[in-house]
Amino acid sequence: MTDRFVAAIDQGTTSSRCIIFDRHGAVVAVDQREHRQIFPRPGWVEHDATEIWSKVQAVVAGALAKTGLRADQLSALGITNQRETTVLWDRATGRPVHNAIVWQDTRTAALCHELGGADGQDRFRDTTGLPLASYFSGPKAAWLLDNVPGLRARAERGEIAFGTVDSWLIWNLTGGTEGGVHVTDVTNASRTMLMDLDTLQWDGRILAAMNLPEAMLPEIRSSSQVYGTAVGPLAGVPVASALGDQQAAIFGQACYDTGTAKNTYGTGSFLLLNTGNRPVPSKSGLITTLGYKIGDEAPVYCLEGSIAITGALVQWFRDQLGIIRSADEIETLAAGVEDNGGAYIVPAFSGLYAPYWRSDARGVVTGLTRYVTKAHLARAVLEATSWQTREVVDAMYQDSGVPITTLKVDGGMTANNLLMQHQADVLAVPVIRPKVSETTCLGAAYAAGLATGVWSDLDELKSHWQRDVEWSPRMEPEVREREYHNWRKAVEKSFGWEE
Ligand code: G3P
Repeated sequence: MTDRFVAAIDQGTTSSRCIIFDRHGAVVAVDQREHRQIFPRPGWVEHDATEIWSKVQAVVAGALAKTGLRADQLSALGITNQRETTVLWDRATGRPVHNAIVWQDTRTAALCHELGGADGQDRFRDTTGLPLASYFSGPKAAWLLDNVPGLRARAERGEIAFGTVDSWLIWNLTGGTEGGVHVTDVTNASRTMLMDLDTLQWDGRILAAMNLPEAMLPEIRSSSQVYGTAVGPLAGVPVASALGDQQAAIFGQACYDTGTAKNTYGTGSFLLLNTGNRPVPSKSGLITTLGYKIGDEAPVYCLEGSIAITGALVQWFRDQLGIIRSADEIETLAAGVEDNGGAYIVPAFSGLYAPYWRSDARGVVTGLTRYVTKAHLARAVLEATSWQTREVVDAMYQDSGVPITTLKVDGGMTANNLLMQHQADVLAVPVIRPKVSETTCLGAAYAAGLATGVWSDLDELKSHWQRDVEWSPRMEPEVREREYHNWRKAVEKSFGWEE
């Protein structure tokens, strides 16, 4: 049998990657390019969707060139993407009508407050699993229709397409203005705040409340099926999966059993727990979301603890403060001291997400004395990630009653030993990283390969998973409790700033 390869595109918040996998799930080639982060005002974050599409084309070409493979040697192409980021484009010209509004952008905070009305933040939670927060896509689309002159009328006439980044890429990959398909998958649709978690269809009542014309929305499909065939350099390759990046990671981590969980450390961190075939409502500040849906099979749901800023705090420390020159340097700097010297940093740059959902939160640095050095601050930067994770792990336990006994981890920050050790210490459970740490792309590749017969079932995929490193907890319980108490005091200081 000739070798079969599957390509996956991961269009993330800061960069786009293409990875080609062989049929054992091993990485054959990787190509990656960054795109511009546009900050027009405090709290606003935009991307140029045209630039994203050209970077995606470049990384696909780059990965193919590195392997010497031709497109016809690819059995399938899978898509995974930064979630919630909202693109509106003109169906006739294929051009975006505005920069994409990124998930971290807070411009819709007031609109969300208004939409909540007397019912408050949970007005649409029963239907969508989500609190009204600037994070989600529906209000971002509403903002664009209200603020781009003439756009609402064009959208009502069916001239404008709405999409999260998966839809934008699939439409372009399958032909764009020349017959591109306008679809999304259930996981991405579950981040718009417009989809009913039970019916997996757009909800007319919410569309009316947000004043969004249904004509602009993509069709909702499963996460693993052939949506269409690529044109251009990938001509003939079936485009066969789409999953939001966190859902792709849980799929790539082989968390197929109810009660299994993973945490991915990227720009933000997102802890997802598989809750099986039914959506579990959260009472503790988590969100209920789709995990994946394979073809016609029943959907799998997750509880999610979404943390907006983790890796992005390291970037801020590097780019805005200039204290380190490269992200890796933070570990060496932090390792120069024993502890945080009493300093805590709460990176509420986009408000705080789970478990607080406070758009009035802003970043704070607390506990400063003249004793504190940049090395202590480097520790505080890393510890902010593990404490925020501890808070969502506690919320998972409160909601599910099932303790997390080990945590599977992935993402760029898992290369940082000091952080991973601290994570195990503050959770008091082992933290485990798999051999293939590219779980986001791997999950998208798996879902695409399942749809095209490269892999037969989830058991086969599970057999690929192998442990690489395990960090065991070492911190004394009194130290853990004291530090956690201090962290929570710091979090309280981040609340109540003007929006
Ligand atoms: O919900 C936002 C998330 O999908 C972003 O992920 O990895 O691009 O930071 P990442």
